[in-house]
Amino acid sequence: MGRASLALLCIAVQPSSGRAAPVDAPLPDHSLYQQGEEMPGGTASHQNALSRDSFSHPVTTLTLAQRLDFRLGDALFRKLWVAAPSSTTASDGLGPLFNARFCQSCHVRDGRGHPPVANEQPTALFLRLSIPPARPQQQQMYSGHLASVPDPVYGSQLQNFSVQNVPAEGKVRIQHEEITVTMTGNEQGVLLKPVYHIDALGYGPMHPQLRLSPRVAPPMLGLGLLEAIPAEQILAREDPEDSNNDGISGRAQWVWSSAEQRLMLGRFGWKAGNATLADQNNSALANDIGIGNPLFPSAYGDCTVAQQACLTAHNGNTPAQENLEAASTMTDLLLFYARHLGVPARQDARDEEVLAGKQQFHQAGCAQCHTPTYTTSTDTTPALAQQTIWPYSDLLLHDMGPGLADEHQEYRAAGHEWRTAPLWGLGHTRRINPKAGYLHDGRARTVLEAILWHGGEAEAARNHVAQRMTPTQRQQLLTFLESL
Ligand code: HEC
Ligand code: HEC
Repeated sequence: MGRASLALLCIAVQPSSGRAAPVDAPLPDHSLYQQGEEMPGGTASHQNALSRDSFSHPVTTLTLAQRLDFRLGDALFRKLWVAAPSSTTASDGLGPLFNARFCQSCHVRDGRGHPPVANEQPTALFLRLSIPPARPQQQQMYSGHLASVPDPVYGSQLQNFSVQNVPAEGKVRIQHEEITVTMTGNEQGVLLKPVYHIDALGYGPMHPQLRLSPRVAPPMLGLGLLEAIPAEQILAREDPEDSNNDGISGRAQWVWSSAEQRLMLGRFGWKAGNATLADQNNSALANDIGIGNPLFPSAYGDCTVAQQACLTAHNGNTPAQENLEAASTMTDLLLFYARHLGVPARQDARDEEVLAGKQQFHQAGCAQCHTPTYTTSTDTTPALAQQTIWPYSDLLLHDMGPGLADEHQEYRAAGHEWRTAPLWGLGHTRRINPKAGYLHDGRARTVLEAILWHGGEAEAARNHVAQRMTPTQRQQLLTFLESL
């Protein structure tokens, strides 16, 4: 057995320390290169030259015919939807209420979105809306059958755009509060906390106890591989009562899948509110763009009965699309695309500074939630099966403290709970979308800011970075994260 595989074994048996990192017992040497870590998407990782399109390449395991389907799906992901009626019935049906006209508007070049700049209206972020659940609704949410209780007039998402003759729901305004953080070596950071307001309401007052949850579009890389991680591997890391007493719990999200018609482990979205890519894609079509589809057939998306102008607007249903706005032929291609977006190979996984940073990452306790590696299921499409992948996430929900909390509950995830964000591809973020920020609402301008926002279960790890690492060690950590 080589050194690398020995190191892998050590992670698996690393004992619990009884408190969060750092541990006093000698740690396994994470500064060693581990076999395969430069290929985060397994052998399916692509080695294309770095560019603004680094997230847009397919996994390398597709057949020629499949690459064609991928291209067709790609075209649908970029397709600009127009209002009905229009002469191009295959592209109409936009809205009547919508957040954007196409998927790529938010998932910029298949990377992440960004909060609006200055006084613009958001085009790559939206606000989820909810009101406090009554007790029976609370039970339905906990059991995975109800995402949240929508505002009776505005629905479950604020659509700040609309087709002609239908009022938009409102305008988003953001204010920032500054928080100064002092770290070792007298280094300082300034965090900007966004506070969201909604102005110019199109349909009268909102519920007095309305709850807002701003969400920026996450990057699209490697999603089919995440879907192919066997659920048992994720559930094995669950520790809802923190029974090993390491300060880290981790809870699975459970949600009803409209695609599979059963209760499933949630994996996608910032609160793991969708179990499958089919559910996530089709609800995006319906709610973000207003396109009815086989899973969510209404042509009116998130319109409520209180929004008559919306419900009486033209729709784009057509016999050519199975009497929907987007037929299953379209959504199947879109799904194929989302499933097979690849992960770029890492360039400098063996650099000394990078490896030193990896050691810092483990020592600070980051890997307690950002689980480095998995092997995908055998029971999936051959292009994604049995890959050793390095997404750096446990896909579980964690209490991240008051700094990151909003009041919106989604299924069983409270306002302060978020799904551990996968870290693969992190270093490509700004090349792909120069306006992008980190975290669920894009508030962090740098990776270091994202770390400094960690609280709750992650507070010990965050404090380790801010108060125990030397500036040099902190830089090594960042070099490692940028290399992902
Ligand atoms: C208005 C912006 C917007 C548009 C348009 C949009 N998305 Fe998204 N997308 C988001 C946001 C925000 C999330 C995270 C949602 C959450 O946290 O629940 C997301 C999440 C996703 C995810 C899960 C990613 C992950 O890492 O968990 C997929 C897949 C996805 N969208 C696909 C699509 C597809 C396909 C389309 C076009 C039909 C689309 N999206 C259009 C904003 C958008
Ligand atoms: C208790 C679990 C936990 C620990 C420990 C933890 N994280 Fe996280 N991390 C999360 C969660 C959950 C999110 C998503 C939070 C959000 O978006 O509001 C996240 C987000 C991030 C992000 C932003 C990713 C993105 O796509 O925007 C970075 C970077 C990150 N973590 C790095 C680290 C580093 C470095 C450490 C160790 C110092 C660490 N994390 C420790 C749970 C954790």
